Order: sequence, then C-alpha cells, then structure tokens
Amino acid sequence: MKIKTKNLLTLSELTPKEFLGLIDHSIKLKKELKKGGNKPVLKNKTLTMIFQKPSTRTRVSFETGMYQLGGHAINLSSNDTQLSRGESVEDTAKTLSRYTDCIMARVYDHSLLDKLSEHASVPVINGLSDSFHPCQILADFMTIKEKKKSFKGLKIAWIGDGNNVCNSMIYGAALSGVKMSIATPKGFQPKKSTVQVSQNLTDIELTTDPKKAAENADVVVTDTYSSIHNDDPKRIKKFLPKYQINDKIMDLAKKNAIFLHCLPAKREQEVTASVIDGPQSVVWDEAENRLHSQKALLSALLHA
Ligand code: CP
Ligand code: NVA
Repeated sequence: MKIKTKNLLTLSELTPKEFLGLIDHSIKLKKELKKGGNKPVLKNKTLTMIFQKPSTRTRVSFETGMYQLGGHAINLSSNDTQLSRGESVEDTAKTLSRYTDCIMARVYDHSLLDKLSEHASVPVINGLSDSFHPCQILADFMTIKEKKKSFKGLKIAWIGDGNNVCNSMIYGAALSGVKMSIATPKGFQPKKSTVQVSQNLTDIELTTDPKKAAENADVVVTDTYSSIHNDDPKRIKKFLPKYQINDKIMDLAKKNAIFLHCLPAKREQEVTASVIDGPQSVVWDEAENRLHSQKALLSALLHA
C-alpha cells in the first residue's frame, strides 16, 4: 500500500485512510507469515537502526521484520558512531542515506529526529523519543482491530502517565475515530498540542479520575511511570495507589475489555500481576504485533 509521507515521526503524518490501511496490511502480513512466509518485497534493502537508549522489542522486531521481507538491518548504538565524537547529525544523515534505504532511530530528544529527517534523503522512522512512540501505536491499533474487529464506537481508557506512548495513542485514536479518556495526576497530562489537534477528530477527555476513564471502556491501557528519558524514582509516589490498573479498575470497564501495555512493565506499580497476567491482558499479542505492523510500515515507506 502507498502512503504519502517520507518519514514517520509522530503518526500525525498519516491520513485516517493511510493509518487504517497500514493496520489492515499488518494483519495480512501476519496471516501470510503464519501460512509459510512473507514475500521478499524488501530484497536488497537495508535499514540502519540507531539506538541512544535500550530496547528489546523495537530492536528485535525491526531486525527480524527486515529479514522476513528479504532485507537486512544494521544495528548501531549511538556510542559506536562518530556522532559520539561530535560528527553532526546533518553529516550523519547524509552519509547513512548513501548506504542504506531507511533509518530508524530511538532518541532522547525528539528534535534529533526532526534534524535527521530534514537531512536524510531516505525515510526516517521514530523508534521512540521523549515525545512520541508511533510504531508502538501501529501495533496497539492492530491488536485492537484483531480483538474487537472494528474501531466503531470504541472507548480507550489511558490511566497513568501522559507520556510519549500516550501522545501517540491520542493520534491513533484521532485517526481511527476511537474515543479516549485519559486519567493522569495534574502535571502529567499529555502534550497540549496533540490533544487539541486530535479533539477536532474524536472525543479526547482529560481527567484526574481513573474510575471515570475506566467506566465502560473497551480497551484499558497504561505504561510505566518512569520512562527511559525520565527515570526519577520519586515520580512513582505521584501515581500510587490511585493510578494503578488493578482488578477494581478493570471491573469498571466493559466485561470484554482488553488490557494493553507497551512493555516493559513494572508489576504492582502501574499494573497488578492479576491484570497483566490475567485473562483480559493481550500484551503478548501486542508485543508480537510490533513485528507485523512495522513490516507494513517499512513496505509502505519503501514503496515495496
Ligand atoms: N515497547 C517497546 O518499545 O519496547 P522496547 O523498549 O523493548 O523496544
Ligand atoms: N514510556 C516508555 C516506553 C518504553 C517502550 C519509555 O519511554 O521508556
């Protein structure tokens, strides 16, 4: 399938049709893989992956995804490149564009991705920044589509930190027309600009009351209270016990509600073991779907 954008840094680059098309293509690629394998549509294509921060899922799913589509991925810790010795982002972007067909980067500061994409002639994908995590949300909406069949009339409850994953989920909600109720402590709300733009397309409610958010929800989501770029243990006190997803919160959601978490998770902090390891949790399908949805994204960005 075709998408117009050169880069994927936030999700806001996509039209609703493109976003929904990517989700459907992800589901197709998953079925195709399980039937015997994907077509080598990225033969001779190379992806450069730059990681300024640790990763398990993003790194392994991108590398495996490139391999399954007949391509190749190169993993670089930013310390291993000349970036660590002061070579400019501009020169790095221009150099990498001469060797490889796409760049995926996980960075501390989102503005680095803006710079990379400005100077790279090849597509740049955000593999997580302090502000957004668009690849996670492609996998999350693929999982929601698989489990709920349609996005029509759904409500997502986000409870916890209004962080990078939450910001991208708001864009996902807007692109799919799903309602979202976000419960965070004061001072931990998602990006204002993201909320404002998305409120033109769907119902985005901000509250400090987790019970209100959870009421009648089809999907309940949270993430760790301390992100890689914001790892202050004191933050946890601002969230507990009120913003923990536990059985009582799940009881307020619909009976057939599903629980999502991008992982890694801290059990008994943002979510109890009873929920994340319980029957409503779909976190392992969600983690697997990173592989399929990123293959759909890579194929679209590389016009395969
Ligand atoms: N969810 C996610 O991005 O996981 P990693 O940090 O392991 O890549
Ligand atoms: N919000 C988390 C997500 C990790 C995948 C972080 O930024 O560390």
